[in-house]
Amino acid sequence: MNAPHTEPFLTLQEIIAAARRNLAPGPWSYLIGGAETETTVRRNRQALDSIAFRPRVLRDVSRIDSSADFFGRKVRLPVMLAPIGGLESIVEGGAAAAARGAAQFGVPQMLSSVCQPGLEATAAAADTVRVFQLYVRGDDAWVDDHVKRALAHGYAAFCLTVDVAMYSRRERDLVGRFVKPWRATAPAGSNFQSGLSWDQVKRFKDKHSVPLILKGIATAEDAEIAVQHGVEVVYVSNHGGRQLDHGLGSAAVLPQIVAAVGGRAEVWVDGGFMRGTDIVKAIALGAHAVGLGRLPCLGLAAAGVPGLVRALEILENEIQTCLGLLGVTSFAELTPRHLAAAAPVGDPSVFSAFPLLDQPPEG
Ligand SMILES: Cc1cc2nc3c(=O)[nH]c(=O)nc-3n(C[C@H](O)[C@H](O)[C@H](O)COP(=O)(O)O)c2cc1C
Repeated sequence: MNAPHTEPFLTLQEIIAAARRNLAPGPWSYLIGGAETETTVRRNRQALDSIAFRPRVLRDVSRIDSSADFFGRKVRLPVMLAPIGGLESIVEGGAAAAARGAAQFGVPQMLSSVCQPGLEATAAAADTVRVFQLYVRGDDAWVDDHVKRALAHGYAAFCLTVDVAMYSRRERDLVGRFVKPWRATAPAGSNFQSGLSWDQVKRFKDKHSVPLILKGIATAEDAEIAVQHGVEVVYVSNHGGRQLDHGLGSAAVLPQIVAAVGGRAEVWVDGGFMRGTDIVKAIALGAHAVGLGRLPCLGLAAAGVPGLVRALEILENEIQTCLGLLGVTSFAELTPRHLAAAAPVGDPSVFSAFPLLDQPPEG
């Protein structure tokens, strides 16, 4: 079933090990790193590892459906590729390669505005469900132009990332003197991002009918304001721990935000989701979809498009195994009653979901 050169990957940790071998130190540190002390990175994992399952048994799980819906389209899993800037430094073809992998497997792609080969060429690369994510680097007319172009190229929704009022201090990149080519050549305009307020969200909703996602909501208070502005999706995220340091883990704030939103908008989440069990936890807590940031990049770095597809296949297998062992046959049957609070069993880190990673194959 799998392309011959991806057969060695039976587990996600093997994919991560291959990505580590393939990437130069600069792009590797850029990919896995976070802000300053990387406490938020670790809290993302800690929050997930603080949730245990309460399985139910004897419920005929011989047929499991792990598909989901995404803006009215059926997708293979309730996950999407989160927006990644500078993907071209991780895999040849950048966002176009990610689009091909997403399409081949059957999940949506969110395209970052700071990723090559850009909005039009990425849309042309593959027919997948897609969302465009914008960093605001210009005035209202500049934003409107991006909306127009995204709509003209089949993007189903528009996303504003709102946790980047300041660009954080990524110490791995600073220590390694890694100069991000896309930042070096980016047009000035980060002052627009710092100057954003709810006024721009109101203006956007008044002017455009395309569904709007606010990515980077981390409190119930802001979720409430977002809903009052008519936002279609509240995307709970701390940017994978890459922006504000010493934030809470995404899975820890998710329940409060789901409660605050109260079904008036969809709630999506990302931050540290690496395993099938992680995805199941998010959906049981009330998320509609889960964004994957580093994991798809690691698949792409390991073996290009087939590596991404293989990572998603393994994730799907983990998800279906988890659903069956919990006694449910679809995500719709999950409830918070399938979960319980528990102490994590190890120290959280970006790769703590893969405890065998440092061990030799025979270890
Ligand atoms: C290398 C890298 C680049 C990223 N670039 C962007 C970006 O351009 N726009 C954005 O909204 N988020 C960006 N993010 C954040 C991701 O979209 C996502 O929120 C985060 O990676 C989720 O955490 P995870 O990596 O633990 O899955 C980036 C993350 C990484 C790892």
